[in-house]
Amino acid sequence: MKFFIDTANLGHIREAHELGILDGVTTNPSLMAKEGISGHENVIRHYKAICDITDGDVSAEVISTTFEGMLQEAEELVKIDEQIVVKIPMIKDGVKAIKYLSGQGVRTNCTLVFSPGQALLAAKAGATYVSPFIGRLDDVSTDGMVLIDDIRLIYDNYDFKTQILAASVRHPMHIIACAKSGADVVTSSLSAITALLKHPLTDIGLAQFLADYERAAATTNKPNA
Ligand code: E4P
Repeated sequence: MKFFIDTANLGHIREAHELGILDGVTTNPSLMAKEGISGHENVIRHYKAICDITDGDVSAEVISTTFEGMLQEAEELVKIDEQIVVKIPMIKDGVKAIKYLSGQGVRTNCTLVFSPGQALLAAKAGATYVSPFIGRLDDVSTDGMVLIDDIRLIYDNYDFKTQILAASVRHPMHIIACAKSGADVVTSSLSAITALLKHPLTDIGLAQFLADYERAAATTNKPNA
């Protein structure tokens, strides 16, 4: 399973990259705004800065909601770096744009997916990635993980090559559940990724090992030991 980080924060991206487990980055207009990135030129520059940190795929989202507008934005986004994957919303013109762009060899990430039918359309159109938002489904009392299971089943039935990129991942147990369900990629915050590291028994065990090492060393160093 690939690990993507879901942020536009360069510090967080760098930290995940330095951990050695980062396979890519996803962003969206809200995440860019959170970092105070606004204005066309600044947004493009920021995507370039992200691509310079990681070798993986970087999803850059279009703002336009028309077929022509999306193609125009995609053309500019892919010029930033070959790592760029054009992120396109699951709307009618979005499906048309994904179909057109996949025919041109441009990689796409179909975003804002909340149902198996939407995921089926994204795969039919040739999306490289589909982004089901599991946390936002959980937020409305619908089990987001059921959507991941449904998409996995549908894609496997027909051998669709579109990769399931589980998004809106809020905590480490979402990551584990996605891994068990066979999601191809999980995108989450740095805190959800680093939370996977933690276990109190690891801390207790390590403290014990180090204490025993010190005790043994102190005994060995005694003159008459
Ligand atoms: C995915 O690509 C989105 O950027 C993201 O995962 C949305 O997450 P949220 O629901 O926590 O905003």
